[in-house]
Amino acid sequence: MNSEVKKASLKEIAEALSKVETDTLLVVVDSRVWQLYGKDLEENINKVLEANKKVLLYKTLEGEATKSMAEFEKGLEFFLEKGIHRKSHLVAIGGGATSDFAGFLAATLLRGLSWSVIPTTLLSMVDAGIGGKTGLNSKNGKNLIGAFHMPDHVWINESFLETLPETELNSGKGEVIKYGFLSQEIAELLKAKSDLSSIIEACAQKKEAIVQADFTERGERISLNLGHTFGHAIEKIYTMPHGEAIFWGMALIFKLYGTEEQLKLLRTFETGVGASFGQSPWFNKTFPVDKIIEYVSKDKKVKSNGIVQTVTIKEVGKFETKERTLDEIRKELEKEKDELRIFDF
Ligand SMILES: NC(=O)c1ccc[n+]([C@@H]2O[C@H](COP(=O)([O-])OP(=O)(O)OC[C@H]3O[C@@H](n4cnc5c(N)ncnc54)[C@H](O)[C@@H]3O)[C@@H](O)[C@H]2O)c1
Repeated sequence: MNSEVKKASLKEIAEALSKVETDTLLVVVDSRVWQLYGKDLEENINKVLEANKKVLLYKTLEGEATKSMAEFEKGLEFFLEKGIHRKSHLVAIGGGATSDFAGFLAATLLRGLSWSVIPTTLLSMVDAGIGGKTGLNSKNGKNLIGAFHMPDHVWINESFLETLPETELNSGKGEVIKYGFLSQEIAELLKAKSDLSSIIEACAQKKEAIVQADFTERGERISLNLGHTFGHAIEKIYTMPHGEAIFWGMALIFKLYGTEEQLKLLRTFETGVGASFGQSPWFNKTFPVDKIIEYVSKDKKVKSNGIVQTVTIKEVGKFETKERTLDEIRKELEKEKDELRIFDF
């Protein structure tokens, strides 16, 4: 169950799509992306495809707003009304929200259609667009509805990044920094301040390799959760971009369960990818132990008996997991909270 993950120009994507064995393509595109690139996409892709395929175009709401049950039903009915069949192929064009949503449409329409992704944000090029986790948000929390459904192709075209707002770019950079701890090769690229294009390529291949080794997250795929246990809580508490929150989630993990050297490396990787996250969001304020524990306890990965699986790093390229109780984590945070208030590294 592998995807082909590679860089491609719009022309190459059009050629590859025209070779997909189907007469019907379901194109699901983020409406902001369509506003910015609709003309380019029509000229380069649709024109080529319309010669030998029926193209059904569905524009989603921008970003996260599309990951709801109501939007999902709209999407389902749109395609079912148009008359699709089991051999139809779906293509998602957008960031992680679009690929999560479109991938879940592909997983459920007629009990599963093949699909591909053209990621348009940094975060989706290195992470969300790859690996076949698809889904929607529930009133009870993020990503609680979904399915594993692997795309056939992920075509990365970095020209989409030209219009990506700075906050979204930084969000992706937080995830890139995470890969620096999971791979020696990426660590070296970051230390050398390599160009973003080589870094994207290396991160995308790393994610695909991890997913191929462990599609359903029973082993190595858990390493991708580095920084996420606290990161999700930080994202909610300070309403900050996902990747930036993951950066602070890693900082907390290294402070509690890691080394000074890992904290230094975090800053080295931050500079290496051209990000600047400054001081922690709780700097000179009360460190929010209760709120962190409240959000961590709601995380879907926490077991019913309050056991949290934390990911730490032994050395670059080698991760470890450890089960900790919420009580243990609370005690650690309480012990460190005065130091965390002025924590800088
Ligand atoms: N499935 C997974 O494995 C996985 C992994 C990580 C995150 N996610 C999910 O990904 C989502 C976040 O995805 P994201 O960070 O890619 O953001 P996003 O898809 O929410 O897009 C962010 C914003 O950028 C806009 N946008 C997208 N591409 C653009 C471009 N090229 N130029 C200008 N604007 C553009 C969108 O309209 C939106 O407003 C979350 O829902 C998260 O749960 C999924």
